[in-house]
Amino acid sequence: MSVTDLPKIELHLHLEGAAPPDFIRQLAGEKKVDLSGIFDADGGYAFDNFVHFLQVYEAATSVLQTPEDFARLTRAILEQSAANGVIYTEAFISPDFCGGGDVAAWREYLHAIQEAATRAETDLGVVMRGIVTPVRHFGPDKAKRSALCAAETAGDWIVGLGMGGDEGQGHQGDFAYAFDMAREAGLHLTTHAGEFGGPESVWEAIRDLKVERIGHGVRAIEDPALVQELAARQITLECCPGSNVVLGLYPDFEAHPLRALRDAGVPVTVSTDDPPFFHTTMRREYDMIAQAYGWEDDDFRALNQTALKAAFCDEATRTRISKTLETP
Ligand code: ADE
Ligand code: ZN
Repeated sequence: MSVTDLPKIELHLHLEGAAPPDFIRQLAGEKKVDLSGIFDADGGYAFDNFVHFLQVYEAATSVLQTPEDFARLTRAILEQSAANGVIYTEAFISPDFCGGGDVAAWREYLHAIQEAATRAETDLGVVMRGIVTPVRHFGPDKAKRSALCAAETAGDWIVGLGMGGDEGQGHQGDFAYAFDMAREAGLHLTTHAGEFGGPESVWEAIRDLKVERIGHGVRAIEDPALVQELAARQITLECCPGSNVVLGLYPDFEAHPLRALRDAGVPVTVSTDDPPFFHTTMRREYDMIAQAYGWEDDDFRALNQTALKAAFCDEATRTRISKTLETP
């Protein structure tokens, strides 16, 4: 058996970002939207840099217009997850794209997504949970609306709040109100930091938003005191090496700090972020990591135990996933 066949936990997957290009082209055809500018000659998503990636991402997302569209998307994504041996996944879902931040509309989208997820749990064996996602470059006011959607639907399925978007805009602390609201509603917290922002952005995330996990966080490696802090407080990083390589943070997996962070005692996990955008899958991530660092079964099992511990689900779900993880 190869490491790529191991059961996997994925903590960082954007629902819209996981939409296969064929799926988006199909919807664009049905809705008569011209999206030809966002694809390359091979039919994949085309972008030149991080900000352009976010623009292409939002253009693709513009054809996801109804709860039914999101239900179909959820099904398509969970089929991919299951094919990659993923048994548990946490998906970032933005109320901005699901009803424009209106709570009543959000409930309808969420209901459709959850229904598709429940069906996939039964027939594909993959468990999904949702993390409500404010988009940073949409600003703090829209983030508050997303946090209200999160607070109103917090429970055993919506388990967290996690900000994405352009880390170059403003400061983490600008979004403290939204994160405070989510924390008070009992939600777990994460935010993208230390991806296109440096170590200071990660310091801000743990100081000003008091997050339990960090999306990416890899640029913490540039500040030894921060690495020590993350290790001491056991703050888990949702690392997505393939995403970082395609977006130009590191030239290849060998140069990625995943191994150095792990060796320094920081809890690290591995996810795909937006798999079709980065031409990756969970199997490919494991394969590339195994090739780059010589990691073997036990390294990946430990990685999954770290992810299980940091998962935002309730304890009953954690116990259930733990049993599946241990099944030979
Ligand atoms: N939204 C989707 N993918 C993202 C990424 N890698 N960074 C920030 N926001 C995102
Ligand atoms: Zn992300």
